Amino acid sequence: MSKRGTGCRIEGREYNKPEEALWLFFIFINRPVICLAVGLEELSVSYAGVLARYGHLMDLPSHTVPITLLEGNTPLVPMPRVAETLGGGFELWVKFEGMNPTGSFKDRGMTAAISEAAGRGVKKVICASTGNTAASAAAYAARAGMSSIVIIPEGKVAAGKLAGAVAYGAQVIQIHGSFDDALTLVVKISERSPIALVNSLNPYRLEGQKTAAFEICEDLGTAPDWLCLPVGNAGNISAYWMGFQQFHRLRSSGLPQILGVQAAGSAPLVLGHPVEHPETVATAIRIGKPARGEQALQAAEESRGSIMAVVDEEILAMQRLLAANGVWVEPASAAGLAGLAHQLRAGLIDVRGKRVVAICTGHGMKDPDIIAQSMPRPLLLPGDLQSLAEFLGA
Ligand code: F0G
Repeated sequence: MSKRGTGCRIEGREYNKPEEALWLFFIFINRPVICLAVGLEELSVSYAGVLARYGHLMDLPSHTVPITLLEGNTPLVPMPRVAETLGGGFELWVKFEGMNPTGSFKDRGMTAAISEAAGRGVKKVICASTGNTAASAAAYAARAGMSSIVIIPEGKVAAGKLAGAVAYGAQVIQIHGSFDDALTLVVKISERSPIALVNSLNPYRLEGQKTAAFEICEDLGTAPDWLCLPVGNAGNISAYWMGFQQFHRLRSSGLPQILGVQAAGSAPLVLGHPVEHPETVATAIRIGKPARGEQALQAAEESRGSIMAVVDEEILAMQRLLAANGVWVEPASAAGLAGLAHQLRAGLIDVRGKRVVAICTGHGMKDPDIIAQSMPRPLLLPGDLQSLAEFLGA
């Protein structure tokens, strides 16, 4: 608060009537008490990332030193028109994980993995990635003053992700091979050197990622009836199931049925065997040998859900439908909801009267090329009023 003339400024706004300013100042300094009284959490001034909010529910060693970019606390966006398009009669929300600091859900797990590594003096981390893990690892390593190495499959990483990894200062290495080959390599490197592995084989990644389940339960008051999400290396589905189970034990919040969705060209968990040459437009989940495949199958089974596959056209159609409702996600992120739409069309699940949450794992800005390829190019007109007016008929 600073005085100027007869008025005064509070948080950048000028107030000229002294009594108005006095009231506002009173409310401003008492906001923690007021928020408590009306049952609101005072997030705007006190939110400090997932470790600060949920660290007491995370199994992290005592040496952990928090490294955060204030990840988590992502919006749970109601999607009534999408629910209507899919047949109606149920409530639908999108948990928009693309709103994390590096644009994907990976930041939740990365804050945990890097914080643990920082606490035991790690200087260098490594991961294999289809792009999002790379950007997240690079950002959190930079934040911790560590260096990072990311190994990616050549030519199969979306531009926004690669740019992120480079911008945050990672050493980016492409290999002739798939994500699965890259993962095999980084596991071996981390076993023979002090370079720490930050893929989701690292258990602390899951500890961080499970916090999204806590947030959903807190926002809705209980767990949803159904949760649908994309499945690649299968860390996220495993983390959600851990999170919902833990919250249910603590707060009797209930458990969702989980629908895990793979891309048809990269669907080892649906086929029941590894896929040597995975292919899909959703490059984030172009994975043929999921490291946590067993755990994912167990999560689907225990939750009375399933793991299924959708074709690329269904993924892109859902990406367009979500964007037409104001939520632009990268293709892989649309797979969960595309799977739900598929099951509803086929009459394989009934969600009438139910509450459904779809996890949208990464932001649309991660993969701009897919839009350039699948959408019309913007029109080009001469830069004068007459041309524009003629074209618009205005
Ligand atoms: N959605 C997005 C946007 C992803 O980047 C990934 C995985 C997934 C879904 C699947 O999650 O692997 O836990 O089952 N991306 C990893 C990466 C593989 O390297 O960024 P998962």
